[in-house]
Amino acid sequence: MGDVPGTSFHSKTTGHVSRSVKSLCTVATNVIIIVSSIFSLFIFVKLTGFYEQNRISIPCPKAAAKHRLQESQNITYSSKGVDKPPNKPKLVIFWYPGPGWDYMLLRDYAKPVFKSLGCKIDNCIYTEDKSLADEADAIVFIARSLGSKPRKLPHQRWIWVNHESSCYSEEAGGVWAGMFNWTITFRRNSTIFFPYGYAQKRPRPLTKNYTKTALNKTKLVAWMVSNCVTRSQRERYVSELQKYIPVDVYGACGPLKCSKRDDKNCLDKINRDYKFYLSFENSISTDYVTEKFWKMLDRDIVTVTRGPANYSRVGIKPEWHINTNDFKSPKDLADYLKYLDMNVTAYVKHLEWKNQYVGLYSKAEVYCDLCAKLNDPSEPVTWYPPGELNKWFIDGHCIPPNDLDFNT
Ligand SMILES: *[C@@H]1O[C@H](CO)[C@@H](O)[C@H](O)[C@H]1NC(C)=O
Ligand SMILES: *[C@@H]1O[C@H](CO)[C@@H](O)[C@H](O)[C@H]1NC(C)=O
Ligand SMILES: *[C@@H]1O[C@H](CO)[C@@H](O)[C@H](O)[C@H]1NC(C)=O
Ligand SMILES: *[C@@H]1O[C@H](CO)[C@@H](O)[C@H](O)[C@H]1NC(C)=O
Ligand SMILES: *[C@@H]1O[C@H](CO)[C@@H](O)[C@H](O)[C@H]1NC(C)=O
Ligand SMILES: *[C@@H]1O[C@H](CO)[C@@H](O)[C@H](O)[C@H]1NC(C)=O
Ligand SMILES: *[C@@H]1O[C@H](CO)[C@@H](O)[C@H](O)[C@H]1NC(C)=O
Repeated sequence: MGDVPGTSFHSKTTGHVSRSVKSLCTVATNVIIIVSSIFSLFIFVKLTGFYEQNRISIPCPKAAAKHRLQESQNITYSSKGVDKPPNKPKLVIFWYPGPGWDYMLLRDYAKPVFKSLGCKIDNCIYTEDKSLADEADAIVFIARSLGSKPRKLPHQRWIWVNHESSCYSEEAGGVWAGMFNWTITFRRNSTIFFPYGYAQKRPRPLTKNYTKTALNKTKLVAWMVSNCVTRSQRERYVSELQKYIPVDVYGACGPLKCSKRDDKNCLDKINRDYKFYLSFENSISTDYVTEKFWKMLDRDIVTVTRGPANYSRVGIKPEWHINTNDFKSPKDLADYLKYLDMNVTAYVKHLEWKNQYVGLYSKAEVYCDLCAKLNDPSEPVTWYPPGELNKWFIDGHCIPPNDLDFNT
């Protein structure tokens, strides 16, 4: 994820975790808004006008949570006089390893964006205050930065949240072995499925002249990338492809530069000039389809994917992309792209479905799901025993590329 600086929808520089130096609550909140919104905001601006709402001042989440917790305790404990009233709000702690972190929209819980989701069941209080650990009903840990381990109480759900591919993940051992009850990941059968993005059907299809759009394009294939050596060896696939068709490489791994700070502008240019965009994942890993795919869904460019064997599992229809998997070799793929370049009618067919859907990055809605599950008394007692997270998430799910044997 986040191979291209500034293109990951939740990070500034290093993948999915960003730090800000200042820890003042309001400053941090603003930083988070900017960082986590780089990619989602322009969609929100167009669709919902959330940007305006985001600009209003936001209470410090930590202080607010503590206050709400106290408030609700005062009410429930004093009025009912029982130890565990049935509708006492569930306390969820986001266990950041240090101040100033943000991860996959976790902090959205403190924003109007989250409130506006109107969770059906919202009997939850979210906080980052580690001093409340013993009172927590659930603690959400970031898999690759677990931080220091608190004491675990039996009624608590500890949650492993991860968006790295199986090739770049590992279950923590030692004190963490067997600690996790639930998972939140991009894998289809996580306890709570949290993909990078999704497609939403438009109320009405767009009426666009895609032939006109297509005829305006002067270039063929664009690739934007900054992680040059990967487990999927996409770089080898692309060099082979380049023998047969020009591929313009933008970012740290290629000669062409786009303004990093103005990613939208850059994508706008690519969108206008190019017919094809390579959304090649850094790993071939079950269900691992990142923003590289989703950010192009809304654009009038045909996406070429290289990633997991089955994109349908995460809701991506075959006609939405050209998949390298369907071609014997990079040369065959190049031949097909060149054919589409010559045949506008056929090319436009690949574009036209885009008038039906809008691409959205995943929202903090998963935290509605989490809250609903925590409030559901029928949820079973369950956990991943030591080694089981590896078995489920990693073993056999980092797939070695099988399309790099170019001589046959
Ligand atoms: C709840 O009780 C705590 C301590 O007893 C107190 O400090 C706080 O002000 C009370 N909150 C409300 C809203 O009454
Ligand atoms: C996920 O699905 C696999 C098979 O696709 C199954 O073996 C496994 O038990 C499932 N895991 C969970 C947590 O449901
Ligand atoms: C779409 O644009 C093309 C090229 O400019 C033009 O020939 C065609 O008539 C247009 N179609 C419609 C329905 O406007
Ligand atoms: C065609 O490209 C030009 C610049 O090259 C741009 O100004 C114009 O908006 C484009 N038209 C369409 C229909 O995309
Ligand atoms: C791909 O996933 C879809 C949806 O889960 C399933 O219906 C289909 O059979 C799968 N295709 C293959 C080739 O496994
Ligand atoms: C161009 O594509 C259209 C639509 O797929 C097809 O019907 C037509 O035969 C193609 N023309 C050529 C010259 O290949
Ligand atoms: C959570 O996992 C622990 C093991 O780490 C287990 O003892 C406990 O019963 C589980 N709790 C729930 C509510 O599932």
